[in-house]
Amino acid sequence: MRYTVDTMNTSSPAPASSELQPALTFTPRTRWCGDLRESDAKQWVTLNGWVAVSRDLGGLVFIELRDRSGYFQLVADPQKNPDAHRVMSTLKTEDVIAVTGQVVLRADDTRNTKLPTGAVEMFPENVTLINRSKTPPFQLDWAGPNHDNPEPQANEGVRLKYRYLDLRRPSMFKNFELRHRIAQATRQYLNGQGFLEIETPVLIKATPEGARDYLVPSRVQPHSCFALPQSPQLFKQILMMSGMERYYQIARCFRDEDLRADRQPEFTQIDLEMAFVTQPDVMTLVEGLITAIFAEAQIAVKTPLRQMDWSQAMNIYGSDKPDLRFDLPLVDLTNVFEASAFSTFKSAVDAGGVVKALRVPGAAHYSRKELDDLQAIAKSFGAKGMAYILYEAEGAKSPILKYLSKTEQAEIQSETGAQVGDGVFFMADRFALVCDVMGRVRLHFGKTLNLIDTTAHELLWVVNFPMYERDVEAGTLSANHHPFTSPHPDDVAILSSETPEKTRALAYDLVYNGTEIGGGSIRIHRPDVQRQILSLLGMDDATAQSQFGFLLEALEYGAPPHGGLALGLDRLVALLAGVDSIREVIAFPKNNRAECPMTEAPVAPSEAQLKELHMAWSPLPKA
Ligand code: AMO
Repeated sequence: MRYTVDTMNTSSPAPASSELQPALTFTPRTRWCGDLRESDAKQWVTLNGWVAVSRDLGGLVFIELRDRSGYFQLVADPQKNPDAHRVMSTLKTEDVIAVTGQVVLRADDTRNTKLPTGAVEMFPENVTLINRSKTPPFQLDWAGPNHDNPEPQANEGVRLKYRYLDLRRPSMFKNFELRHRIAQATRQYLNGQGFLEIETPVLIKATPEGARDYLVPSRVQPHSCFALPQSPQLFKQILMMSGMERYYQIARCFRDEDLRADRQPEFTQIDLEMAFVTQPDVMTLVEGLITAIFAEAQIAVKTPLRQMDWSQAMNIYGSDKPDLRFDLPLVDLTNVFEASAFSTFKSAVDAGGVVKALRVPGAAHYSRKELDDLQAIAKSFGAKGMAYILYEAEGAKSPILKYLSKTEQAEIQSETGAQVGDGVFFMADRFALVCDVMGRVRLHFGKTLNLIDTTAHELLWVVNFPMYERDVEAGTLSANHHPFTSPHPDDVAILSSETPEKTRALAYDLVYNGTEIGGGSIRIHRPDVQRQILSLLGMDDATAQSQFGFLLEALEYGAPPHGGLALGLDRLVALLAGVDSIREVIAFPKNNRAECPMTEAPVAPSEAQLKELHMAWSPLPKA
């Protein structure tokens, strides 16, 4: 990356500074530190930045100056320029300076090949101390040859409290530069496809996306609250009913849900919607967008992307976001246990459940402890237990072997393809639980057995999601995507059957290396269908009217067919930057207690604020 700045006339050196107090004025930079090369030798330049590393080597003071573009070496020689040397010898890490001088070539044996600027240096004529820094609470740069310190030298709490220091690290600049380029590539691509960038409101009536809302009390309307949007879903649909045809927004969304490495309460979506489209139209458009975005990370995407049915993803990978960078498929053994004497499994099958198994190469040698650890992992994911058979050279070994007939044992081996040396792990329970646990166990083996090809880029669409999920205890239905998703036209009759949860939705998720990076659907554009879906979700007419009356009414005025999708921008950037958490690509993220460690938000409101909001503060005791 090159940075450009206005070039000022620096043909003659500025007078040397003798001021040790920070100056109130300074000379603005003419060049960026990281841009200087051999070809710049003899140029007079002014640089501004932070002292990254300073060393006093027997009289000569060496400073690595850092700005956003990189590092540049400054040298002060008391013989050549006593004033500059005097200032530079007082400088400490993170002091802010301006220097003016001539770029000179380094002697061949002192060149640093690890730094792009390693062929040149400067003996500043003029050094201005602009500001002093306290000693930082953690080390930002290495004293090593390329100075960059990609591994943070402090725990996350300290990094987030002093985020302004953490963000000075070059590896953080790289993340934000990538984020910026992805946002620009998105705008450029969508502008080229006839989309309009339109902002939707942030103070709204709740839009359900399955999480809790953040509420904002109104001063003007006593005892009423706005909700912050979980997504711009309903507004973008109404924009389609408004004839805008193609909308996008890089939109901030707010969801009060449990935090994880890939979830923040405040996050950003690349949100888009199109009118008069079918599912393939939206998918093709998004594939073009994804190709443009991945190109920013030098990753070539081959389109059309692979598509997988939700049921296939669940059955084979135990997940609706399968990681296809490794194989290790789940094998269904439900049939084997239909008439089994092994009552634990048979009763699960009788109750409508399933049995799924994983054949793990090399697991026959697992120790007692390794097997116990695996049990504990499965239990931590919600399993009651996990059965296993180890195929040792002397024969199969398992505590459950005595309950299995010879036919069952043979079927297990042939269905899973187990060989000597393998271990087969299996569990029986409800379909959703078995898939969830076995899917996670599959990922566990993928990671611990190093099966994942970390150079692979596996993108796929997961399609044909079920419309609903049934709550096992309450028996109620909830929308799998959101309640505005259209049922599959072939399944409309199932909607009014005994098992409406079998209805497929016109919904599609985009999955990259096992992470859901986007989700979307074709929406309901007929008011009668929308009312029917809300009613199936247990909403009576009055509730539907009070919550979504505006949508139901807008649907009555010639709503076009429409559909769209939202990509999680933070997730995408984190994956493409190769970092573990989306917090690494959000400038000021919340910690895992949904607080901002730097500002210490949230805080209790003041009496005066509450009074203006017509509210009294009587919080319930902390749980
Ligand atoms: P969905 O809820 O699937 O769909 O969200 C779309 C994408 O947003 C990202 N995402 C998150 N990223 C960080 N932190 C979070 N808490 C978080 N929650 C979601 C994910 C996800 O795939 N309105 C629909 C889209 C549509 O139908 O057009 C929606 O919001 O990457």
